[in-house]
Amino acid sequence: MYYTLSNGVKIPKLGFGTWQSSNEDAYTSTKIALETGYRHIDTAAIYCNEEGVGKAVKEFLNTNKSVKREDLFITTKLWNDSHGYYLAHKAFKESLKKLQLDYVDLYLIHWPNPIRIRNHWEESNADAYKAMEEMNKDGLARAIGVSNFHPRHLDTLLKTAKIIPHANQIFYNPSDMQSDVVDYNNKHNILTQAYSPLGTGRIFDIKELKTIAEKCQKTVAQVVLNWCLEKGVNPLPKSVHGERIIENFNIFDFKLSAEDIALIDGLKGKSGSAKNPDVVEF
Ligand SMILES: NC(=O)c1ccc[n+]([C@@H]2O[C@H](COP(=O)([O-])OP(=O)(O)OC[C@H]3O[C@@H](n4cnc5c(N)ncnc54)[C@H](OP(=O)(O)O)[C@@H]3O)[C@@H](O)[C@H]2O)c1
Repeated sequence: MYYTLSNGVKIPKLGFGTWQSSNEDAYTSTKIALETGYRHIDTAAIYCNEEGVGKAVKEFLNTNKSVKREDLFITTKLWNDSHGYYLAHKAFKESLKKLQLDYVDLYLIHWPNPIRIRNHWEESNADAYKAMEEMNKDGLARAIGVSNFHPRHLDTLLKTAKIIPHANQIFYNPSDMQSDVVDYNNKHNILTQAYSPLGTGRIFDIKELKTIAEKCQKTVAQVVLNWCLEKGVNPLPKSVHGERIIENFNIFDFKLSAEDIALIDGLKGKSGSAKNPDVVEF
């Protein structure tokens, strides 16, 4: 099950998250995820676990000869200390080295307006993105994009970008659907990736979701991840527990009713919301 990015690259509809996983946890959980059938892994330089992810990928490919590197989709992200043309190239090389990869499938600018460059974020993003366009052209990043970008950050980037970002990874779950960002993404053929699809664990407190899950004989996590697919977004659930990793993968065998989808759409604000990228303290 894939989405197709605007440049024709296929991306598995379900990804696996690794934020807040130590190198060791990222290694173990990524291995379980790959063995379960996930083919899309999300990491970032700032997670400090690219080595763990890379080790899991390498071992998995070595022991499962029927799966090839090109069957996997690996994303990493440029951290806030490396915006700018030369810094982006340097940070990317370090990420590749830690991941033990020759290329990544998706490289993202992690935040549009970090505190370090707040008085010149427009120029710094444009320069970093120029470097990423070169990586894309050279086959080092099969797709490139952004994360936490609002329409105004994208409008600014598009003034200089030659390639429209292929993806925008944002906080997205029933509690905050960021419809202004999603509408913008859709209009520009940018895939919306849903980070924190389970609200970093907070959506489990929403009682309406428990009712729907019971009715569907599924779990709350499965209902929300399936709902993400119904919305055409690309969820990236994270877990370090084998049974949950498997549970979160089993989301393709049921269909939510239109009423349930509408009910989930109406859960705004029940378990947190996206951070404003213009005021984050990092
Ligand atoms: N681009 C960005 O700025 C950004 C920001 C945040 C996240 N992300 C990406 O998106 C991924 C997912 O977001 P997230 O890490 O915030 O959290 P999430 O996937 O929304 O939720 C993960 C939390 O839910 C728990 N969990 C997972 N599956 C469960 C299940 N089936 N039942 C009960 N609990 C379950 C996990 O616990 P255990 O691990 O203990 O099982 C963990 O505490 C990240 O890992 C990262 O790759 C990107």
